[in-house]
Amino acid sequence: MLPIDTIETPVLTLLPLRAEYADEMAVVLSDPGLYTFTGGAPLTAGELRARYERLIAGPPGWCNWVVWSCEEELLVGYVQATIDDGTAEIAWVIGTPWQGRGLATASAKALVDWLKRRGIGTIVAHIHPDHAASAAVATSAGLRPTERWHYGEVRWEWTA
Ligand SMILES: CC(C)(COP(=O)(O)OP(=O)(O)OC[C@H]1O[C@@H](n2cnc3c(N)ncnc32)[C@H](O)[C@@H]1OP(=O)(O)O)[C@@H](O)C(=O)NCCC(=O)NCCS
Repeated sequence: MLPIDTIETPVLTLLPLRAEYADEMAVVLSDPGLYTFTGGAPLTAGELRARYERLIAGPPGWCNWVVWSCEEELLVGYVQATIDDGTAEIAWVIGTPWQGRGLATASAKALVDWLKRRGIGTIVAHIHPDHAASAAVATSAGLRPTERWHYGEVRWEWTA
């Protein structure tokens, strides 16, 4: 399985998830509005640390990064890829104060490029049909909507 690298771009760095990021990330992810389309609610720093510990100890296909903004010198969000049998399911979240600056697009593109360079043949995201910002991120990252639905969300896909 793939070692989880640090992924660098001019505007942001994707840092492999560590439990120590939980305190800062609890603030980044504290707006209840972030969960409108995905469900869930903000977690406390302790709950987030426990989740991060579970994710880090999970199977090798669970790949998680936090997004470091080079301009702000802060953590601003996260991306994830769940890899199984040559297919990666991806997702992205940017904290509310840093949205609308292209950070999700840059993060998703960097993640998709990394997965392609490692020979992943299918990249999938599930997006709520009313979530225009996420659809724009997926489009910029090269994914296209399919006819398939999954628990009320549209399956977006890129295939080699
Ligand atoms: C979806 C999300 C990651 C977008 O983050 P972001 O950093 O603001 O995204 P970007 O700045 O890269 O913008 C992406 C695109 O969405 C568009 N956009 C931003 N806000 C929008 C809105 N409210 N309605 C419509 N389009 C919007 C931007 O114009 C841009 O489109 P373009 O590339 O055609 O110019 C962010 O809103 C988020 O974290 N939401 C909550 C978590 C979530 O739902 N994640 C998706 C799981 S798959």
